[in-house]
Amino acid sequence: MSYKSILVETKNRVGVITINRPKAMNALNGQVMSEMVAALQAFDADDAIGAMVLTGNERAFAAGADIKEMSGKSASDMFKGSFVDAWDDIRKIKKPIIAAVSGWALGGGSELAMLCDMIVASETAKFGQPEINLGIIPGAGGTQRLTRAVGKAIAMEMVLNDRKLSAEEALAYGLVNRVVPAERYLDEAISLAQAIAERAPVAAQIGKEAVNQAFETSLTEGVYVERRLFNFLFATEDQSEGMAAFIEKRKANWQGR
Ligand code: HXC
Repeated sequence: MSYKSILVETKNRVGVITINRPKAMNALNGQVMSEMVAALQAFDADDAIGAMVLTGNERAFAAGADIKEMSGKSASDMFKGSFVDAWDDIRKIKKPIIAAVSGWALGGGSELAMLCDMIVASETAKFGQPEINLGIIPGAGGTQRLTRAVGKAIAMEMVLNDRKLSAEEALAYGLVNRVVPAERYLDEAISLAQAIAERAPVAAQIGKEAVNQAFETSLTEGVYVERRLFNFLFATEDQSEGMAAFIEKRKANWQGR
């Protein structure tokens, strides 16, 4: 499939998707979002891929939803339209996704990064929810995922008063996994994705599902969900192989089933 607003490539077992609207600071219009969802779904269905990296360019991961596209819309246009659905579609991707963030991650761009499973940030990364400047609030999880990640005090300041977080602050507040020099952030994200992609594929996907459940349920229900998923993995060939490999002191040969 050919795309207009994103670039897609594979590196070993990693699918790399690059948002490619540099003149608009990678603003997320409908086309970017639908192409991104299509590319992620294609990688999710491809056994040769174990994890994905989502990135932008050095100046901007993404400066938010496309304000020019949104500006003329009414409430019923927003309600009837499918724009926000794309974020839900990304949430349904089973394989791990790592955001490689440099420069601006604002509004929907910050929300997109938070939808990913991990964030590798360049030291130039800046995170913010500036929607208040437009007379709106975050609409793709920003008030929810941000609050769970950084806590109420900082989230309130970001959502109500456009406080931006530097990469180092984002690391200190637990929003990102690591901060690396600008020239290395993408390589670092790809090598982290490759390391995960070389692990037992079903267990990695189930692990993602289980961790995400921690944000959806009570502790008791979450622990039950974890137990069911844990038990299920004993039906996979990779569980037999992984334990045999340990006992035989050799490297496991994962089959992804
Ligand atoms: C449309 C955008 C854009 C955006 C930047 N551009 N952000 N276009 N939507 N979100 C465009 C500018 O209009 C400009 O186009 C070009 O990109 C370069 O931007 P500049 O502003 O000239 O660059 P700079 O001065 O370096 O400032 C960069 C910036 C600023 C700090 C990122 O552009 C900015 O504040 N952007 C808006 C950020 C924002 O409010 N995001 C939240 C959007 S609402 P021209 O044609 O003039 O050269 C949102 C809701 C999500 O995301 C809801 C999810 C469902």
